[in-house]
Amino acid sequence: MADRIGTLVIFGAGGDLAKRLLLPGLGQLLDSGRGGELHLLGVGQDPMTAESWRIRVAASFAAGGASGERSEAVAAASDYLQADVTDPLDLQRVLDACTGTPALYFALPPRVTIAACAAMQKVRLPAGTVLGLEKPFGTDLRSAKALNRQLVTLVPEENIHRVDHFLGKSTVLNLLGLRFANRLFEQVWNSDNVESVEVTFDEQLALEGRAGYYDKAGALIDMVQSHLLLVMALVAMEPPSSLDADDLRGAIAQSLRATRVWGGDATAASRRARYTAGTIDGRAVPSYAKEDGVDPALQTETLTEVTFAVENWRWAGVPFTLRSGKALADHRREIVVTFKEVPHRPTGLTGQPGPSRLRIVLDPDGIELDLNINGEGNPFTLDRVTLGVDFAAGELGPYGEVLHGILSADPTLSLRADAVEECWRIVSPILAAWKKDAVPLEGYRAGSAGPAHW
Ligand code: BG6
Repeated sequence: MADRIGTLVIFGAGGDLAKRLLLPGLGQLLDSGRGGELHLLGVGQDPMTAESWRIRVAASFAAGGASGERSEAVAAASDYLQADVTDPLDLQRVLDACTGTPALYFALPPRVTIAACAAMQKVRLPAGTVLGLEKPFGTDLRSAKALNRQLVTLVPEENIHRVDHFLGKSTVLNLLGLRFANRLFEQVWNSDNVESVEVTFDEQLALEGRAGYYDKAGALIDMVQSHLLLVMALVAMEPPSSLDADDLRGAIAQSLRATRVWGGDATAASRRARYTAGTIDGRAVPSYAKEDGVDPALQTETLTEVTFAVENWRWAGVPFTLRSGKALADHRREIVVTFKEVPHRPTGLTGQPGPSRLRIVLDPDGIELDLNINGEGNPFTLDRVTLGVDFAAGELGPYGEVLHGILSADPTLSLRADAVEECWRIVSPILAAWKKDAVPLEGYRAGSAGPAHW
């Protein structure tokens, strides 16, 4: 493990990500006592006095619920530098302003991050420097590979944190406990017993002013290529021997390597749609194509559903369907494992309540198991019951967990180079099919459940 970090530098300090997610996560981490001593340095293109920056930091810390002495001290001592991160001279100024080993967090669009990494080749990074990079990592398979090649010329692989905040979500991490600390599930976690797996992340949120980024990404790159494939990899992976970085990241990468679009046919295995005007919870939402900053000609999808196969002995023949969309009727975020029917039901036991199902719900976190039992009334008629438990979120939010990994230079919860390349490899045939218009871009009303026939 590398040295403990002395300075956390946030590139893109004036941006939305720093304000809404990173700084609130940092405040929680500091107040939990797991953050250690730290100098915080914000870097951005816009001019800002240290005083205004400190006020911003304190406000974001407060928004994340932090109000302790540790976070207060870090906010009060933090600094801001106006700099162009794609300019080596500016980068050198940033590094000179760091105390101790720096962690450089790129809260920037992928193109700027790529340019900043090129500029970094012209400066001398202090020993032990850690790099934190936000998703999407690169803009396609080629650029992700090129960025990976470049990054390892700057710092060793274990000091590169390719961030995916879903790996810091408590319920996603709970999958590990559920699967590997209960004899019950792991025994049936295979194609002999599982009919299908669905990972769904339906949001009521619409574009929320993010056209600059989202219009070039769309639901497939924004959610499936990163977050949902990782969740799927955790569901599908082989049990690791330990949760250290090598074992866990190795198991994730192995399961991604086995993943392809269902039937090898990206056209048949994928669907895409874009929202039209509608109402969500009484809030009027304009058509996506008319949102500020959107170029309708880009044909950006706001909802997608793709079926994948994990081609190995354990999962042969089991469809994994990943779906994510914006401006939908419900906030539904869950992993659903549907089990096969029993091989024989004793004659005389009537009723068809459906297969057993395990549902792992994200935000609010919970687990539900749908079972068939001899219920009330006629004891020979099957009824459906659901065993359920809700649990409180983890001590830290996802960004608190991710930052903890970076500040303690522990890459367990970040992505290895091969994993991000695999994620791009997996979605590449879909992007190619869509580019050729082989899959129609359908429409759905904002506030609906998606296209009626899906
Ligand atoms: C982000 C996506 O990475 O994850 C957003 O860019 C999405 O579009 C978000 O809304 C969902 O994650 P969370 O943790 O905010 O629910």
